[in-house]
Amino acid sequence: MKVGIDQLSFYTPRYFLPLEVLARQRGVDYAKFAVGLGQEQMGVTPPDEDIVTLAANAAEPLVRDGGAGIDLLLFATESGIDQSKAAGLFVHGLMGLPAECRVAEIKEACYGGTVALQMAAAMVMRRPASRALVIASDIARYDLASPGEPTQGCGAVAMLVTANPRILALDPEVGLHAEDVMDFWRPNYRDEALVDGKYSTRLYLGTVEKAFARYAQASGRSIDDLARCCYHLPFTNIARKAHERLLKLRGRAEIGPGEVDAAVVEALGYNRRTGNSYCASLYQSLACLLDQCEDDLSERRVGLFSYGSGSMGEFFSGVVQPEYRQHLLREQHKRMLAERSELTYQEYEDMFQMKVPQDGWDYVFAQYRTGPFRFGGITGHKRRYERAA
Ligand code: HMG
Repeated sequence: MKVGIDQLSFYTPRYFLPLEVLARQRGVDYAKFAVGLGQEQMGVTPPDEDIVTLAANAAEPLVRDGGAGIDLLLFATESGIDQSKAAGLFVHGLMGLPAECRVAEIKEACYGGTVALQMAAAMVMRRPASRALVIASDIARYDLASPGEPTQGCGAVAMLVTANPRILALDPEVGLHAEDVMDFWRPNYRDEALVDGKYSTRLYLGTVEKAFARYAQASGRSIDDLARCCYHLPFTNIARKAHERLLKLRGRAEIGPGEVDAAVVEALGYNRRTGNSYCASLYQSLACLLDQCEDDLSERRVGLFSYGSGSMGEFFSGVVQPEYRQHLLREQHKRMLAERSELTYQEYEDMFQMKVPQDGWDYVFAQYRTGPFRFGGITGHKRRYERAA
């Protein structure tokens, strides 16, 4: 039986900062961001959006039927808003999903979305009539003027996981690599992540090799069996570096001209404009590939590499389904990115500084541009979500 992604929806907030503006402000050559990192813009979350509204806004197009038959909702994030209650329960309420539903939140840095996807697939395999909603939603924040700042971003991806999926059937073979390291972390008392940036990049690239080697051994496939590859994208240039590493593992010295870009470039456009969206980043890249690749990928195999600092890596793959193009939300994604408002540097910094108050008082938040759902404020220590006016 085939199991995998039946529908795929991505959402990013309505504001962005051009990195050209950030480069000027920081006195850095813009080419470092645009060429060196492969980033052009940074998505910015207004004060009345958080991981719940990002997630609900991503999921809304997939549950317009009331979510009939959804009996699992897994919410992956590393930007948690509560130490106890799963963020998925807020989404469950906003979407009006059935009460007979298993809901939980999952964490392992940027890798959480993949755990959620694989768990959902396993559950559907056991009960083929089930439909699972997997959501990956994150806001990437580093200290102002730190090396990580130009890689900040935000976004959410919602995926319906079913039997006989219409978009991507997952292969059962995977390659895993786990290691206890401190490359990137965020202690509970901080809103911004701490990172040993260059070490984290080295670890990412070492992990992709180890995970791919295990995937190749388990599946008997080589990199040449994959029509395209999508990678976790803290910044888009890392996909080129990772893919080059995997091509070198073939044992042939030469890599053909354009061979790296041919495999990865169509999957980079959305992330180049939103920045890192942690758990959602890989699936945003997959959405970009499927939406924008001019070649028909039907029946072709796509490789996916998921990385979460700390660290966990997984290489896996899936086969794109016939007629997949009819089920994509390509126009919606295009419109959403095109209609975002550009911020000045000062507006970005003001939004960055407007953190959710932690003093326990009640608050009503001003209305910014958002998707259908917004974070209205806090009453009696409880977050209030509502439909945007
Ligand atoms: P940095 O010190 O700002 O940059 O840190 P750099 O000096 O290494 O330069 C970056 C690239 O720009 C280099 O290219 C330079 O040569 C080039 P490379 O040599 O690497 O190919 N460059 C230029 N290119 C053109 N024109 C110029 C120019 N100047 C320089 N004028 C770093 C970069 C990524 C470390 C930093 O942004 C950072 O700390 N980012 C956050 C951490 C991160 O993204 N790590 C990636 C792997 S870990 C991961 O993916 C997990 C994560 O998503 C979190 C999670 O799992 O939850 C982060």
